[in-house]
Amino acid sequence: MYQLWGGCFEEEPSKVLRRLNDSLPIDSRLFREDIQGSRAWAAEQNLSGFLSKDDHEAIQDGLNKVEKEIKEEFSKDGRLEDSEEDIHAVVEKRLFRYAGDAALRLHTARSRNDQSATDTRLWMLTSLPHLQISLKELISVLVNRAKSEIDIIMPGYTHLQRAQPVRWSHFLLSHAWALRDDVIRLKEQTTRLSRCPLGSGAIAGCALAIDRARLAHSLGFQDVTPNSMFAVSSRDHFVEFFNWASLCSLHLSKIAEDLIIYSSQEFGIIRLSDQFSTGSSLMPQKRNPDGLELIRGAAGLLLGNAMAFSCTLKGLPSTYNKDLQSDKELLFKSFDKLNDCLKVAVGTVATMEINSKRALACLDPGMLATDLAHALVRRGVPFRRAHHLVGVVLRRAAALGVDLQNLHHHEYYNICPEFGTKEELQSIFSWETSVEQYTSVGGTAKAAVNLQLNMLRTWLDAE
Ligand code: ARG
Repeated sequence: MYQLWGGCFEEEPSKVLRRLNDSLPIDSRLFREDIQGSRAWAAEQNLSGFLSKDDHEAIQDGLNKVEKEIKEEFSKDGRLEDSEEDIHAVVEKRLFRYAGDAALRLHTARSRNDQSATDTRLWMLTSLPHLQISLKELISVLVNRAKSEIDIIMPGYTHLQRAQPVRWSHFLLSHAWALRDDVIRLKEQTTRLSRCPLGSGAIAGCALAIDRARLAHSLGFQDVTPNSMFAVSSRDHFVEFFNWASLCSLHLSKIAEDLIIYSSQEFGIIRLSDQFSTGSSLMPQKRNPDGLELIRGAAGLLLGNAMAFSCTLKGLPSTYNKDLQSDKELLFKSFDKLNDCLKVAVGTVATMEINSKRALACLDPGMLATDLAHALVRRGVPFRRAHHLVGVVLRRAAALGVDLQNLHHHEYYNICPEFGTKEELQSIFSWETSVEQYTSVGGTAKAAVNLQLNMLRTWLDAE
């Protein structure tokens, strides 16, 4: 019988330990990377003179067959049925069927500790860019909408209270900028991720004089891990990814929350498409933003995964401990969840409708109180005093039961003559005029929003 370990054991492990210990249902997803690592390992052994040409060929040949076989099993039911405990054992055992004794040489100077660490790094290097692609798609959708809907003005809120009018595009781009930072942050992790642990063995390094740099490059890594104990121990790249995913999901959650609020009947600023809404089994009139709510909820799960893994690491001694096996379960969970959330976010934002009339109707003249204060400032009134005087105006308007625009000119004049003539005062009550004051970089005036649009477009095009 082909055995990975157990030579010094008399009894089999208990069933219940097997159930806890076996990781195949999770790490079978790494079969490509595991085989890729084995191919490179065999080739390096051969190049360094530790594996004969014949054995090397038998191994490479066998690995191709194993890969084909596993691929087929996967495509049937997405699972791999095997009695072995993990993907490393499965690949090696199956290789033995095809390559015979040559297969027994593959694991020379290798450990599942450096193998597992290599597989996951390879998987992350090929999979994480998919998240980047979706993120860039989302940014692109936001930028395109911002460009074509730049004339729409909406209420901007702080504390969810009406604050100042802003361009709808300015709001959309506020999210695009956060997502752009996510793309940049994820890329920055690649340098640390792209170090190959293979050749670290179980803990002490590789007893064969192999060329680790050549091995690393053959697998597409930028570099090698510089210390074997660090290599089999470190899961810092997981921690970085989990925390990155958590932050990214917080950004998605904020978009989701904004859109959920704006799609409520009370706001009615946006309408979600049928494709990205759901109904109620009881109330026929309902259009529920379930997708957005799931995105909002996922931020909790992703933060939980980040916390869970850091808690697992806390208190671990150096090098490999089986606690580390849970890295993959959390990695796949966080990745899959975020991947789906990003795709739903792209679809939702791309297909929602904005109701520009309703956005205008949600504005009220009280949101121009700051503009009135600025008008006084332009006529020499110190801002703190101007702020107070507009407060007095607001109180007067409330007492008379009118809004700022309908408050009679003489009321303004009595409070402060610097409010200017009736015409000057009336000219303040324009949403367009209001937003167009904010021309400096980062503001909501059309020119400033266009500048943002161009910067984001240029960045997207260069990506
Ligand atoms: N399935 C294990 C994991 O993913 C592989 C490493 C096992 N190493 C060991 N010494 N038991 O962590």
